[in-house]
Amino acid sequence: MSQDMNVLVLGSGGREHALAWKIAQSSLLSNLWIAPGNAGTAGVGTNVNLNPEEFKAVRKFVLDHKVNLVVVGPEGPLVAGIVDFFKADKALAGIPVIGPDAHAARLEGSKSFAKAFMARHGIPTARYQAFSADQTDQAIGFLNTLKPPYVLKADGLAAGKGVVILESRDEAERELREMLQDAKFGEASRTVVIEEFLKGIECSVFILTDGDSYRILPEAKDYKRIGEGDTGPNTGGMGAVSPVPFCTPEFMDKVETQVIIPTMKGLRAEGIRYMGFIFFGLIRVGQDPYVIEYNCRMGDPETEVVIPRIKSDLLHLLDSTANGTLSECDLEVDDRVAATVMLVSGGYPGEYEKGKKISGLADVDERSMVFHAGTRQAGDQVVTAGGRVLAVTSLGSDAHDALLASYFNVQRIQYSGKNFRKDIGADLEVIGKKGR
Ligand code: AMP
Ligand code: GLY
Repeated sequence: MSQDMNVLVLGSGGREHALAWKIAQSSLLSNLWIAPGNAGTAGVGTNVNLNPEEFKAVRKFVLDHKVNLVVVGPEGPLVAGIVDFFKADKALAGIPVIGPDAHAARLEGSKSFAKAFMARHGIPTARYQAFSADQTDQAIGFLNTLKPPYVLKADGLAAGKGVVILESRDEAERELREMLQDAKFGEASRTVVIEEFLKGIECSVFILTDGDSYRILPEAKDYKRIGEGDTGPNTGGMGAVSPVPFCTPEFMDKVETQVIIPTMKGLRAEGIRYMGFIFFGLIRVGQDPYVIEYNCRMGDPETEVVIPRIKSDLLHLLDSTANGTLSECDLEVDDRVAATVMLVSGGYPGEYEKGKKISGLADVDERSMVFHAGTRQAGDQVVTAGGRVLAVTSLGSDAHDALLASYFNVQRIQYSGKNFRKDIGADLEVIGKKGR
């Protein structure tokens, strides 16, 4: 086990605040930096004004400050090859970066790569085909074999906007043409995945892996739409709850045997040594799990409920991941329920204003933790700096308790335009009360 570790967390959202908050509690830690961080991360470490996608600047900071572990929060730097950049550089090669290399990050960065990977390894997922612009006629032909609603996905990263679900065939055809021929999502929609619509209930499952063994982290459910009752446009996530009542031990067994193990075996069979987090975006159809998507990072806001439920030393787990000794680590999980409610800017996920003064943070009681998602320190004030602003997380003996505490403290925080969903966990509450 390493001691006196100097850790750099890359990213600036609620996920990175939650990761940094937990790492800061480790007895193995010497120094913690977050780049670029936010007003919340400044309370658990030191913010560094660095863009995580400017690898040369990251390199200089890492060498100057003797960083010995880099934890990557968002997918951007991973898909752009930060791990490969470190491995190719003599001075950096011995410094582990938690996250997969660019090839493996294509599990998130390319939907057609992910779907083909699942097909090769018998991992349950929606039936699909992928098409490029010169195959528009074949794409329409495939659309005609499907029943509505139609699911169209831009192949590449499209800031969470690349998935379109349409009821009408004509609309689907129009959208398909815009994606393929008019590059509606730029490079990302040069290839489009068309897939069968799956009807079911979604959940997020995470593992941490050193390439050989893995640990399953607590699962979570997030609430993606802006409006109550899952209405309105998609957002980055308006709240989350962990554990998920319908993720029973029987269901999680299926997730492990039908999804996690085949994914690990598939990666190994293809010569990919995957180090880092894998996020399985799942949908339960009947009693069976199907993979909607892979992500090569933790979820946000899921991290804000997953991390508070981890009792073990996270830095020890990450260090063991880097050293290939994860099999020797136990993962201890808090039985309590964690719930987080996201406070967002007025207008989000459309246009919104930034720079609104936030008050009441000091009035939040001890039942809740506030993870900053989009905030900035401006003199002695904390101001809004993003669409998602703050995640108010609480642990409770059941979902009802946790949500009651979060909603109580949500009321104590004020800023102009504050918006949040009032029904986080409402669909789970009754089941949640009974526990798992
Ligand atoms: P993604 O951007 O890949 O997370 O997809 C956004 C959302 O689209 C998912 O969270 C699902 O709610 C929905 N979705 C994606 N693929 C399917 C599918 N094949 N069937 C039903 N819903 C889907
Ligand atoms: N909450 C979903 C995500 O992080 O992609």
